[in-house]
Amino acid sequence: MPDSTNRPKIAIGADHAGFHTKESIKKFLAGQGYEIDDVGTASEESVDYPDYARQVAERVAAGRAQVGILMCGTGIGMSITANKVPGVRAALAHDVMTAHMAREHNDANVLAIGARVVPEEQTIAIVREFLNTAFAGGRHQRRVDKINSLDKEKVPGTS
Ligand code: RB5
Repeated sequence: MPDSTNRPKIAIGADHAGFHTKESIKKFLAGQGYEIDDVGTASEESVDYPDYARQVAERVAAGRAQVGILMCGTGIGMSITANKVPGVRAALAHDVMTAHMAREHNDANVLAIGARVVPEEQTIAIVREFLNTAFAGGRHQRRVDKINSLDKEKVPGTS
């Protein structure tokens, strides 16, 4: 039985295009002993991706999950939506390298994957890399702090 001590709790969500990939990622994560909070969707019936991105992002922002994983056709809609929630740094990763850098340099706390872009057999490797890579800190912390400051500041010229 895998040791689940100190494993982050993972919130996961997908639209109809990402449903099958979500199910296969969930199976992998469960086998690794992760606690999973699946917000849906539960079939291939057409739904709106922002509804799922929002639920996952809000769980991460509130500390109810430490990591979010989102799938839609391209991953673009999921990442755009999740990044609207303060405290969320969602990264669209399409291979192991981008998943690694999203954690090491950007301290991403949400991973978005395009289920119609990335072959299903590669998605597990992307998820594994994201979960197993630590944030490097140092000069990257300064940059992430600058990203995070946008959550709190009023941007000049906006109402
Ligand atoms: C749904 O057809 C599609 O638009 C969605 O899965 C995603 O790719 C949006 O970014």
